[in-house]
Amino acid sequence: MKLVTIIGARPQIIKAAALSRAIRNHYSDQIQEVIVHTGQHYDDNMSQVFFDELQIPRPDYNLHVGSASHGVQTARMTEGIEALLIKEQPDFIVLYGDTNSTLAGAVAAAKIHVPIVHIEAGLRSFNKSMPEEINRIVCDHCSTLLFTPTKAGLENLKREGFSIDEGGPSTGSGTSKPTIDNPKVYHCGDIMYDNSLHFADIVEEKTDIIQRLELKNKPFILATIHRDSNTDHPERLGAIFDALIELSKENQIVLPLHPRTAKLLKTNLCNEKQTLVFSSANIKLIPPVSFLEMIALERHAQLVMTDSGGVQKEAYFFKKPCIILRPETEWVEIVQTGNAILADADGSRIMKAWQHFKNNPPTTFPEIFGDGHAAEFMLEQMLKA
Ligand code: UD1
Ligand code: UDP
Repeated sequence: MKLVTIIGARPQIIKAAALSRAIRNHYSDQIQEVIVHTGQHYDDNMSQVFFDELQIPRPDYNLHVGSASHGVQTARMTEGIEALLIKEQPDFIVLYGDTNSTLAGAVAAAKIHVPIVHIEAGLRSFNKSMPEEINRIVCDHCSTLLFTPTKAGLENLKREGFSIDEGGPSTGSGTSKPTIDNPKVYHCGDIMYDNSLHFADIVEEKTDIIQRLELKNKPFILATIHRDSNTDHPERLGAIFDALIELSKENQIVLPLHPRTAKLLKTNLCNEKQTLVFSSANIKLIPPVSFLEMIALERHAQLVMTDSGGVQKEAYFFKKPCIILRPETEWVEIVQTGNAILADADGSRIMKAWQHFKNNPPTTFPEIFGDGHAAEFMLEQMLKA
C-alpha cells in the first residue's frame, strides 16, 4: 500500500511522527509512505526542528508555498498536491487536522478520485468564522476513511449524516468497501496522545529547558496564543495580555511565541502594554520551542493557558488544568470533566478561572483519548480497506 501524507503546519508535522513511527516499526514491508510538505510553516523552529527531533523521515517533496492569503496559499498547495498525486498514484492520501494544507489536500485528491484518510475527523467548534471549521467540514465530507479521536467527534459525524456501525464505534460502518460515497468512520483515540506517551519517557534526559529557563522547582504558567481571532484583534489581544500582566505580579509566565503572534504584538498591542510585557522579569517571552521542550514545559507547569487545540489536549495528557482562551472548543470533553475552563479573551473570566484552579486543582483525568496506539489501529484499517 502506498500512502501520500500531507503535512505543512507545525502540529501536522508532529502528528505525522506517530504514523511514520508505526509504519517504520510494524509495517515497513507492507506500507510505503511518501511525505509531502506544503511549506505552510517554514521557519526552522516551526518545521525543521521536528524532523530532527522526532525521527520523521525527510519529506520526499516540499512545495515551498510559504505564507499568503487563504485563497492564494490554498490554491498554490492544491496545484502542487494534484500534480504529485497524479505522479505518485497512491492508494490513499493521509490528511491531518484542519489547516489550509488539509483543505488543499482534500480538494486536490477528491477531484481526481484519490481516497482520503482524515485523521482528527469529526471535530467541530460550530463557529464558521474560524478558517479551521471550514477546512475540517470540507475534508470530512470528501473523505473515505475518517478517524475521530473522541466520542464528541463521532456524534458530530453522525449528526452530519455519516452512518456509524452501532455495534461499536471502533468497528467502523458496514462491511462493504469504503468509498467517498460510502465512507467509514472509526473512533480510535488521538494520535497526539500516542506521541505524548512515546516521547514523555525521554524528555527529561533529552532537554534542559527547565534548567535553562531557571524554572526548576518553581511554579509557572505556560501560555501560548496564535489564533487569528485573538492575534488579529487589538482589543482581544489586549485583554489577554492585561490578564497575563496581572497574573505576572505573583507568577512566572512562560510564553513561547508563535511567529504570527510575534509579528502582530508589535502592531496590535499598545505601546504601554508592550513595555510592561517586554520589561517584565516574570514574563519569559521565548521563540517557539521544540516538541520535547514543549512537553517538558507542559509537564512542569502549574497551569496552561492557551488558544491552541494541541496544547489544550497536551495539558490534559499531562494532568494540568487549562484555561482556554477561546469562546468554544472542539475538545469538549476536557471542559466537561472540569479540567479546562473556557475563558475566551476576557480578563475577568481568565482571572476567575485562575482562582478556581488555584483553590481546586483538578485531580481526576479520565482516559478519553485512547490507549496510545491510535496510529497502529489506523494503519490496520487502511490495509483492510
Ligand atoms: C496555521 C493553521 C492553524 C494552526 C496553526 C498551527 C490555517 C488556516 N491555520 O495557523 O489552524 O493552528 O497553523 O500553528 O491553516 N509565519 C512565519 N513563519 C512560519 C510560518 C508562519 O513567520 O514558519 C507567520 C507569517 O507571517 C504568516 C503567519 O505566521 O503569515 C500565519 O501563518 P499561517 O500558516 O498562515 O497560519 P497560522 O496562524 O500559523
Ligand atoms: N508546540 C511546540 N512548540 C511550541 C508550541 C507548540 O512544539 O513552541 C507543539 C505543541 O506541543 C503541540 C503542537 O505544537 O503538539 C500544537 O501546535 P499549535 O499550537 O501550533 O497548533 P494547533 O494545535 O492549535 O493547531
